Amino acid sequence: MAKQKNLRELFHDTLKDIYFAEKKILTALPKMAKAAQSEELKEAFQKHESETEEHVERLDKVFAELDARPSGKTCDAIVGIIEEGQEVMKEYKGSPALDAGLLPAAQAVEHYEISRYGTLKTWAQELGLEAAVELLDTTLAEEKKTDEVLTEIAESSVNQHAEAA
Ligand SMILES: [Fe+2]
Ligand SMILES: [Fe+2]
Repeated sequence: MAKQKNLRELFHDTLKDIYFAEKKILTALPKMAKAAQSEELKEAFQKHESETEEHVERLDKVFAELDARPSGKTCDAIVGIIEEGQEVMKEYKGSPALDAGLLPAAQAVEHYEISRYGTLKTWAQELGLEAAVELLDTTLAEEKKTDEVLTEIAESSVNQHAEAA
């Protein structure tokens, strides 16, 4: 009979999923910053790249609270979302609509993270992992803030630019 898995194991597995995702995002953000045409979007990606480095460090600490070594587990969802962003970069290279296409790709990444961190935080509360709750909540707030910033950029400039051309 298969071994019965508990919430702590589910938490650990999901932690590996987001750890893999954050590392993947760290490799994608510099490319997106380089591709972005508007200075505002470029800066938003660069800022989030340094925040993402901290997200990885916070996850290291959550693993430590579990007495586990930090490790990742392939997350097909984030691989797919990032591939979509890379397609936009390729297909809209040099086009006025490039930034307008990069924004939803980036927001899909943030929404994935927001969903995972929300779940992990709830489970950490359930499991009484107090330090983890704090760490996960800090990152969750940064992901939400980034999503808002991207929405503002989309509404203020990039969409108009894509339309005008
Ligand atoms: Fe993140
Ligand atoms: Fe993020």
